[in-house]
Amino acid sequence: MPGHKGKANIYDVTEISTTDNLNSPEAEILKAQRALSRCYGSVQSFFMVNGSTGAIQAMVKYASIESNYPILVSRNSHKSIFAACMMFGVDIITAEDEYDDTLQTFVFDETLYIDLINKNNLSAVILTSVDYFGRVIDLAKIAILCKEKGILLLCDEAHGSHFNMNDLLPQSAMRYADICVHSPHKTLSALTQCAYIHVSSTSIDLERLKSIIYSLQTTSPSFLLLESMDSARYEAEIGAEKWAARAEQADNIRTRLNEIEGIMALDAEWARAAGCSDKDETRLVIDVSKIGSGIEIGKMLESKYGIFMEMYSFKHIVGILTPQDDISWDEKLIRAFTEISNGKSLKQIQTPIYPKAGERRISMHKAFESRWEKVMLKEVAGRVSASLAGSYPPGVPLILPGEIITEQQQEYMLTIKNLGGSLFGIEEGYINCVKGEL
Ligand SMILES: Cc1ncc(COP(=O)(O)O)c(C=O)c1O
Repeated sequence: MPGHKGKANIYDVTEISTTDNLNSPEAEILKAQRALSRCYGSVQSFFMVNGSTGAIQAMVKYASIESNYPILVSRNSHKSIFAACMMFGVDIITAEDEYDDTLQTFVFDETLYIDLINKNNLSAVILTSVDYFGRVIDLAKIAILCKEKGILLLCDEAHGSHFNMNDLLPQSAMRYADICVHSPHKTLSALTQCAYIHVSSTSIDLERLKSIIYSLQTTSPSFLLLESMDSARYEAEIGAEKWAARAEQADNIRTRLNEIEGIMALDAEWARAAGCSDKDETRLVIDVSKIGSGIEIGKMLESKYGIFMEMYSFKHIVGILTPQDDISWDEKLIRAFTEISNGKSLKQIQTPIYPKAGERRISMHKAFESRWEKVMLKEVAGRVSASLAGSYPPGVPLILPGEIITEQQQEYMLTIKNLGGSLFGIEEGYINCVKGEL
């Protein structure tokens, strides 16, 4: 193996005596993982080949073995966190973060979490910092409380593997979390599908975590991915100045975008207004709501200017800047926004109100294991969902399995669909719902 004998790709090798084995590393992979751990200042770090999704599954499974208590999960979490809890039968308590319809983002309220941690027996708290908008939360108080109560603090920092590279970028959550997950394919130069798990606390049972990681991962990991994770770490380590330069250029892009009529590039103040402590300079968040919807203008950037950004929502367009960007891209972006703004008359768009979560009828796990039927999205209100569903990106579910789908949620998703946005959990206009009476 591989069957292509090097013809498809000479570097696509398998576990032989001169390589190593990801599921019991003793040579090159072990050395590379140790270099990774040194770079991030962790107790131990691991390569993962199924994205942060796989790394989150490992974290959740670890927490569920440590204790039978539920995990506290923020509503503003990526679907992979809910999906891991659903599949492993882990009970969750959802922190219902408020959604601010003016800012068009979730708001982080530390007191909500402190209260829930004080009132409940929990095995772990999972928080996302940094989120898709580059917003970082201050974990200090929550970390102290979790430590006092013997609760694990797990962090989804998928979008933050470039943090700590220099002072212009936010501090990594690794400072507070017991275990942290990174997607180096999102902001570093690793190939798509790569992830790191970092253990920051000496109280984590490394043998148990390793056994979970080795059980969840393929026995045939791609060496292309493994090599790229090692290279991405090396490039990040030697590239601190490039990150500083890109953060400064990002500031310049924001200033220039803010000079264009109807365009607003958001900064850390905007993140603070939603309870966050900081914002990643290299995450471009552009409010276009004065000239149209983010989805409409995002599509225009793609079709007319060949510019592909990361995320389009009703109000925002989000872009990820890295040192790998071609500098001419910055000029192209400014030109495109200038032209779009010139060609559009100013009109405030009406954005739909973000719907509240429906009432929970059964646990996510029970809904997942129940009998299902497909229901058309336009007729789904009142049914109990068997699926995680919402818009992608950012992949934060609007609907969780076991919850009743409300009319407002149905309408919200239909609006996204009609505007040409992308949804997950809906296939060909249908969503899986629990079958029969409950
Ligand atoms: C916040 C967050 N966490 C986790 C994930 C999952 O990461 P991956 O695609 O590497 O599996 C994503 C993906 O977009 C994400 O945005």
